[in-house]
Amino acid sequence: MKRVILSAVLLSGVLLADGAKNVDRVQTMQNMETAMATIQKGFLYNNRNIIANGVQKLKYNTKNINSFKIADIRHDQFKEKDFAKTEAKAISTLADTILDDFDSGNKEKVLDTYRKMQNQCITCHRIVRKW
Ligand code: HEC
Repeated sequence: MKRVILSAVLLSGVLLADGAKNVDRVQTMQNMETAMATIQKGFLYNNRNIIANGVQKLKYNTKNINSFKIADIRHDQFKEKDFAKTEAKAISTLADTILDDFDSGNKEKVLDTYRKMQNQCITCHRIVRKW
């Protein structure tokens, strides 16, 4: 069963790579969630390859981060596409930082940066979900 699920995940990864431009919001977000979990798994196993894999996946998916519209937005001034671009850049930079810090043995900073990355996700979700 695990194999079937893994194959499905891998296959969807391949399909995604092909149709990157058409990736929709749900897929992008779910991929980012998986990538974040992968990075965390890398910390727990103390395995650089796993972390690097998650970082790469996360960065790849941030390219499609603005594949959404916010309907019924309260403040008209909010430009979701521009905001998404800024967030994508910040998340990418933080992801690179995680790998650099891991390589230089700065484990505490790695976790700190991970939390900052989560904050970037939540910041946007708060706006979107009007928390
Ligand atoms: C620029 C805005 C923005 C950023 C940044 C962002 N998201 Fe999202 N996310 C959305 C929107 C819009 C939705 C859909 C609305 C909702 O679920 O309330 C969403 C939904 C999700 C969902 C639910 C997907 C589903 O199946 O419906 C997950 C999981 C998710 N995001 C993960 C992440 C992770 C992980 C990050 C950070 C690495 C992140 N998001 C960063 C805008 C963003």
